[in-house]
Amino acid sequence: MALGADHGGYALKEEVKRYLLARSYQVTDCGVHSAEPADYPYYGKTVAECVASGRAHRGVVICGTGVGMSVAANRVPGIRAALCADSFTARMARAHNDAQVLALGARVVGTGLALDILAAFLSTDFEGGRHDRRVRQLD
Ligand code: RB5
Repeated sequence: MALGADHGGYALKEEVKRYLLARSYQVTDCGVHSAEPADYPYYGKTVAECVASGRAHRGVVICGTGVGMSVAANRVPGIRAALCADSFTARMARAHNDAQVLALGARVVGTGLALDILAAFLSTDFEGGRHDRRVRQLD
């Protein structure tokens, strides 16, 4: 699992990392490593490249709103990053869109909801079928 955040997402990234490590996920932390101001495009791209290259199975990117990070991650070919502020969207992003990267807005959702969104994202399989055809059309 690759994680990345800017300063707006740093604290939540640390919570996400704790959550994942406690559940024995292998975590690659692509930064940031402090709450000092940082530009999100580099971190979104780095996480997305980790996933696109197969170095990580899934990614989580976090900034203030999640918007900048999701845009950055989606610019990496083959990546489907889903910005989710609720658990239903997270489940559907996996089941229907086969999203590999979850984007979270740390100034939008609290830690409890963010971790519930993450759990929904990680525990839902892609349904395939008609959704597979649609996902392939994206590329
Ligand atoms: C940083 O202030 C903020 O703009 C950033 O975290 C993110 O929300 C951008 O989309």
